[in-house]
Amino acid sequence: MPMRTPFVGGNWKMNASLASAAALTERLIGSLADLDIQAAVFPPFPYLLRIRGMLAQADSPIALGAQDAYFQRDGAFTGEVSVAMLADCGVTHVLTGHSERRHVIGESDELVGKKTQAVLDAGLTCVLCIGETLGQREAGETDAVNERQARAALAAVTPDHFERLIIAYEPVWAIGTGRTATPGDAQAAHASIRALVADMFDQPIADATRIIYGGSVNAENAAELFAQPDIDGGLIGGASLDADNFTVICRAAAR
Ligand code: PGA
Repeated sequence: MPMRTPFVGGNWKMNASLASAAALTERLIGSLADLDIQAAVFPPFPYLLRIRGMLAQADSPIALGAQDAYFQRDGAFTGEVSVAMLADCGVTHVLTGHSERRHVIGESDELVGKKTQAVLDAGLTCVLCIGETLGQREAGETDAVNERQARAALAAVTPDHFERLIIAYEPVWAIGTGRTATPGDAQAAHASIRALVADMFDQPIADATRIIYGGSVNAENAAELFAQPDIDGGLIGGASLDADNFTVICRAAAR
């Protein structure tokens, strides 16, 4: 079975100021200099260039990510940001399908698919987020929802793209709520997603694909979650805004 390099992303969401984002980055540059996992930060758009400059100057292994991108290359799309613009700013990773974009902003499976495709076509790494709501979990629909979202997002994805695809399983009811999936429940969902990738593509691709967990991961629960065989790291919201907590979580992912 191939070794999957663990991935931990800090999704800062619509938080921080320019000053606090720079201070957080400064501390992470110091604490995450020698990790054998892939760590990334996903700051708000206006701070990307500043943070890119800091990471580059320090020769930091921390990757720079963006929280969203539009699928069109350029044109009359007021307020949107293209993948090419992000790449121009040194971004290497982009989130698509985050539950806040699906459920708060109203993005459809189809739009998430177009964005996912645009990110992968541009040669960047895509962190595709999928996951069920509480009602869907209680109705026993977890696997069906994950399957629907994954198939829609990956409809046009080719085997070549998979090297640059990370799937984040983020149960909506666990995001920002302090309520985490049990390691067993998360593992079960991850194993189903891996089986789905094998069904859509093949087993070697499924074995090589990183599937990370998100939803109230913190310094206390990270190690137990990351110890599950199909959990290859995490996407961290609230706890990623604190350098000490994010560092502990990244270290918990190192195998
Ligand atoms: P949380 O967010 O860690 O604050 O629950 C996770 C996410 O939305 O990616």
